Amino acid sequence: MNPKERVEELRREIERHNHSYYVENSPTIGDREFDMLMKELEELERAHPELDDELSPTHRVGSDLTSGFEQVAHIYPMLSLGNTYSVDEVDGWVSRVKSSLPGEDVSIVGEMKFDGSGISLIYEHGRLVRAVTRGDGVQGDVVTANVKTIRSIPLQLHGEGWPDLFEIRGEIVMPWASFERLNAEREFNEEPLFANPRNAASGTLKLQNPAEVSRRGLDAYFYYLLGENLPCDTHYGNMMAAKSWGFKVSDAMRKMETIEEVDEYIKYWDTARRELPVATDGLVFKVNNLRQQLNLGFTAKSPRWAVAYKFAPERALTRLRFVSFDVGRMGIITPVANLEPVLLSGTIVKRASLHNEDIMRTLDIHEHDMLYVEKGGEIIPKITGVDVASREEGSKAVGFVSHCPACGTPLVRVEGEAAWVCPNKWGCRPQIVGRVEHFVGRRAMNIDGIGSEKADALVSIGIIESYGDLYNLTEDELMRIPRLADKGARRIIDGIRASLTVPYDRVVYALSIPGVGETTAKKIARATGDIDTLMAWSREELEAIEDVGPHIAEAIVDFFANETNRKNIEKLRAAGVQLSLPEVGSEGRSDVLGGKSFVISGVFSRHSRDEYKELIERNGGKNVSSISKKTDYVLAGENMGPAKLEKATKLGVPIIDEEEFLRMLNVEC
Ligand code: IVH
Repeated sequence: MNPKERVEELRREIERHNHSYYVENSPTIGDREFDMLMKELEELERAHPELDDELSPTHRVGSDLTSGFEQVAHIYPMLSLGNTYSVDEVDGWVSRVKSSLPGEDVSIVGEMKFDGSGISLIYEHGRLVRAVTRGDGVQGDVVTANVKTIRSIPLQLHGEGWPDLFEIRGEIVMPWASFERLNAEREFNEEPLFANPRNAASGTLKLQNPAEVSRRGLDAYFYYLLGENLPCDTHYGNMMAAKSWGFKVSDAMRKMETIEEVDEYIKYWDTARRELPVATDGLVFKVNNLRQQLNLGFTAKSPRWAVAYKFAPERALTRLRFVSFDVGRMGIITPVANLEPVLLSGTIVKRASLHNEDIMRTLDIHEHDMLYVEKGGEIIPKITGVDVASREEGSKAVGFVSHCPACGTPLVRVEGEAAWVCPNKWGCRPQIVGRVEHFVGRRAMNIDGIGSEKADALVSIGIIESYGDLYNLTEDELMRIPRLADKGARRIIDGIRASLTVPYDRVVYALSIPGVGETTAKKIARATGDIDTLMAWSREELEAIEDVGPHIAEAIVDFFANETNRKNIEKLRAAGVQLSLPEVGSEGRSDVLGGKSFVISGVFSRHSRDEYKELIERNGGKNVSSISKKTDYVLAGENMGPAKLEKATKLGVPIIDEEEFLRMLNVEC
């Protein structure tokens, strides 16, 4: 392939990944592979300037700008660092630096590359006056109120010797311990989990609620001092001074003179970084002397006096103890590798999903095999391979089960799908418990006080047989759950009573009809209007509903043909659960939005996204999914996608936040 063709191919591929990442929120490639593609393209463009194109992805600068924050220009632009991926590449950089400074002694400072969100702090007369995110590198969001909640950041400097005005740059990070606590909470509340501490840190920094920021336990490390009259003419000296003023500067920072020391530093931290309390994605090497830094200068995007070394994605090798099979609420069987505990990217991994029979067979796992576990940007670790060389002689291949591990029923495989299913819907405990758990979940009936443990206890003790029985529970019955105090029982009863106001579409979602997620449930509720119509509709009638294909239509018909399901519906009806849409014109409806169209983007703090969608519709507005000239408003929460922001700004569509929106409805906020 000639360079022109390769350049074009790379540009197309990179833009495709950009789209998946920024627009669809579902990355299709790891950071490292993406960087490699960018690097290859940059190199080709450098070697063939005639192929340059102002629309090439290499001309894009990443941006984290968010609406709702004041934006200011950085005093010094916030540049990125050139990346390297091997000791040889770092050695090459050191040699180039040395040969650019002939006859001079050159010291190199090695430090951690913290994986969080870059921040610039401005101090005047020893007081923190402003904190700004990286933004697009030229201007960023002012997030001072949030940053002030981070306990490790000095608001008033200690010691002495600080210039009257200076800037210090660092990384806001979410330590592993805070990250795990936050995700555990979010899991309990059925909120989407953060994929990694970096996303959690930048998402938190953009909250409009400093009290919540404070609660989430952020931290910050500092690595770059800028300004006039700095205390020292070396980077290391300045960082030590910053440390004495109260900034957190990593103890891993080290001054080195030779390439051998640099190589040793890399070798050491390649593994030792796993013990650190925060996420790191590499190391940074910087020329220590500020005059030498000045001589080396900058390229358009990064300093020549510094380089990043990126760690290879973390992979661990550990022994398979056994493969177990989980039963989900829809009866789907998921194979899970149970492993000898192993430390991976800061957390101990004991279980990793093997997804389904096909994936398990492709990996060809044998008993007691040594397995490679990886944790990309995702939370759930995955098995990526088997170390066949270390396989025990005569060990047998691990097969898939033929019967349900919970109830012993023979499994069935749905034609055209990879999943095996246990058909014993009403006699298989994990399925019953799973459906109760789903029913009480925040996005369904939102019944407080029942988590997975209590749902399991209710079913195993035999107090309930399905979610329909929840409405006949008494406090005395609940007290039979071990370790449940009066207060806990009261809370559950109150939660059950409160669920009687949950709207019909969420009830449809709560029922656990196979294939019916939140969005489909809404469409079904709107199309049918009430449960009796839904139960009476034929396959053909159901298929006419948007998003309902033949599979789902069949699942709905089967669901309501089942006697236990019908009995459950009657129990819900007797209890007073909402089984129809509210009458039009009834309470809470208005026409104040008069047909205006809204695009919702980002994460909100006062109501959920769905609640906003509902508020829009209940008040005479329309929800649309993409921004066009015809869109009247963008309702933006935290972390609105940069592509949407750019489009709204370009088309002049007003961007409003939740407070403004609630004011439009005349709701107290
Ligand atoms: S120095 C002009 N040092 O990595 C050079 N950056 O890829 C300024 N980062 O935007 C950056 N740890 O957010 C530097 N020890 C470190 C770092 C570090 C993390 C981040 C920073 C920067 C990005 C560059």
